[in-house]
Amino acid sequence: MATRFILSWIFFLLCIAFFQSSNAAYNVVNFGARPDGKTDSTLPFLKAWLSACNSVIPATLYVPKGRFLLKPIVFSGPCKSKIVFQIAGTLVAPSDYWSLGNSGNWILFNKVNRVAIYGGNLDAKGAGYWSCRRAGRSCPAGSTSITFMWSSNIVVSGLTSINSQIMHVAIDHCTDVILRKLKIRAPSSSLNTDGIHVQSSTGITISSSSIMTGDDCISIGEGSKNVWIDHIACGPGHGISIGSLGDYVSEDGVQNVTVTSSVFSGTQNGVRIKSWARPSNGYARNIAFRNIIMKGVYNPIIIDQKYCPDDNGCPNQSSGVKISQVTYKNIRGTSASQIAMNFVCSSSNPCTGIRLQDIKLTYNNGAEKSSCTNAAGISTGVIIPRSCL
Ligand SMILES: *[C@@H]1O[C@H](CO)[C@@H](O)[C@H](O)[C@H]1NC(C)=O
Ligand SMILES: *[C@@H]1O[C@H](CO)[C@@H](O)[C@H](O)[C@H]1NC(C)=O
Repeated sequence: MATRFILSWIFFLLCIAFFQSSNAAYNVVNFGARPDGKTDSTLPFLKAWLSACNSVIPATLYVPKGRFLLKPIVFSGPCKSKIVFQIAGTLVAPSDYWSLGNSGNWILFNKVNRVAIYGGNLDAKGAGYWSCRRAGRSCPAGSTSITFMWSSNIVVSGLTSINSQIMHVAIDHCTDVILRKLKIRAPSSSLNTDGIHVQSSTGITISSSSIMTGDDCISIGEGSKNVWIDHIACGPGHGISIGSLGDYVSEDGVQNVTVTSSVFSGTQNGVRIKSWARPSNGYARNIAFRNIIMKGVYNPIIIDQKYCPDDNGCPNQSSGVKISQVTYKNIRGTSASQIAMNFVCSSSNPCTGIRLQDIKLTYNNGAEKSSCTNAAGISTGVIIPRSCL
């Protein structure tokens, strides 16, 4: 009788062990993380990640409600199976901006494959860092809140990021990334707080997101290919930009980027392509901007190949970046400056294949104008302001 009892207990315990391992769920609290916003939870998060990453069956990392203090942290792969990061709570940075400021990245996913992040809030507490920058004191270079490097098959859905020190989200050397339902917030006065920056990456989809920040809502840097952006609400911010390109003489180009079904409100730019005025073998081609609404945007449509923020320390040569096959279709709304369409292309590498179709951008009841320098292409449909191509 006693033996049978013990045997059934052993069987029961084995069942529990099997059930748990087939779920492979890891709650960071069980590794010592504390939801009090004060206790350093960096090590517990790393331990939970290591367990998930070593799991041979799909693993879920769970972050419950509450505020978890994290110092700069690297989630490294490759991992043995898929990982879902399910975040109900908020990840907060230490109040002292120096503790993030020199690492370049706050939360870094490096060399991971098949990782999905659902939900979550990131609060990098950037305000102290921005005021250091504004006061011209000696400040660290700043950290991006969440970065994916050398990774593939990534999904980030429903994440909120507030008050990053510099960029909120960066995608670098990645393939097949989907970012959707992101909410990004920083004051319009915060410096270099780009919403989402993509570079050296292929197959990137960014959709259904709301971005209010101090720099570009989305920026697409060198070496980005097959990028699809839809249903973005941008503003305040500096718009959606391809560039800055031509940072270096030798750099990879940007191609096949679509921005569609988006709204820009009170932004400095709408859809922009920008390059520095210096020699470069870079390029931007097969770019489409369509179905876009501009609400009081200062430069709704702009190509700027003499990019020079604050007219300070500019290369002041002619840009080697070759811009071609850029389509603007069904773009409507209001401009906050007279030049609603502005193409400042390179004298050594004029823009070619610009296509305008159904544009209506107004400024002060008909005072709107367009301006072209070294730009060639065609227009179809109604174009307001009158095309200068
Ligand atoms: C362009 O990018 C889209 C994704 O945005 C992709 O579906 C399409 O295949 C790409 N086109 C080419 C020619 O690579
Ligand atoms: C750029 O170069 C031109 C011609 O060489 C010169 O007139 C102008 O002052 C320069 N601008 C700046 C900002 O250096």
